[in-house]
Amino acid sequence: MAGAAAPQQRGGNAEDVSAEALAEIGLRYEVDGEIATITLNRPDKRNAQTFATWSALADIGGNLPEQIRVVVVKGEGPSFSAGIDLRMFTPEGVPGQGSFSSAAALEGPAFEERLRQAQQGFLWLRRPEIVSIAAVQGHAIGAGFQLALACDLRIITNDVKFCMKEPALGLVPDLTGTKPLVELVGLAKAIDLCLTARTVEADEAMRIGLAEKVVARSDLAKAVQDKIAELLSTNRDAAAATKRLLQGARGRTLEEQSAAEGAEQAKRLRALFG
Ligand code: CAA
Repeated sequence: MAGAAAPQQRGGNAEDVSAEALAEIGLRYEVDGEIATITLNRPDKRNAQTFATWSALADIGGNLPEQIRVVVVKGEGPSFSAGIDLRMFTPEGVPGQGSFSSAAALEGPAFEERLRQAQQGFLWLRRPEIVSIAAVQGHAIGAGFQLALACDLRIITNDVKFCMKEPALGLVPDLTGTKPLVELVGLAKAIDLCLTARTVEADEAMRIGLAEKVVARSDLAKAVQDKIAELLSTNRDAAAATKRLLQGARGRTLEEQSAAEGAEQAKRLRALFG
């Protein structure tokens, strides 16, 4: 996990994140104007994720160019992501990255710090200045499901299989997925999904609010492109201000939220007419 950039910062160059280093980790990163695309690119291992994946995601977030408005997260091959690389649960671990047994041996707060660093790869996807879209096909298990949940929107294929498998393995979902899950589907359904580790298929995912749109696999790329075009049709600064308002709405009273709306609108009106 060493080397993860602070994801709060913004305004780097796409070149700051080396394509060769990412390829070794099994990631691809492309910037095209206002759109950044991150592809989990280890299809032969169903895009299983390691400490290095999360560190690289944090680096991408920390160096995201200022002009980016939409970030697409997708997976190459049959599945979006089969979750954590199961080698991390073996004593040998992933070459060069150790394992949970070596990390768990860290003294004091160092182990928890390592787990928090992993979360940095996911947290930046909620920034107000961007809209993140997960394009999900096939399996999205554990860390894969949580990566999809880290995004603002999910466009799924009709063969999707979400599964929060962590409790079945003696773990909790800790890659920032529990809050969006509860917010999307409600507490009872989140308990049902996590504590049974059952699989959610496309129909149910749509019904319970896990996804915005379901399409055939062959239509996934087009559906994502169409959504990007819609998102880019609105004003950049108004979009960021509105996302800030929407994100804060649950934590505020109506009075506080109305005040926040007024404050944001005053800034917009000054920017437009001041
Ligand atoms: N880690 C490492 N390798 C994996 C993997 C994983 N999570 N998932 C799949 N692979 C590998 C397989 O070992 C196999 O490799 P080989 O070809 O070298 O044998 C290859 O990917 C293809 O796998 P399958 O033949 O099983 O592919 P499939 O399409 O038939 O099935 C699948 C796909 C249902 C995702 C199945 O591979 C599977 O169940 N994988 C394990 C899923 C899992 O338990 N993930 C952990 C979730 S919990 C979590 O993520 C914890 C956390 O956040 C802390």
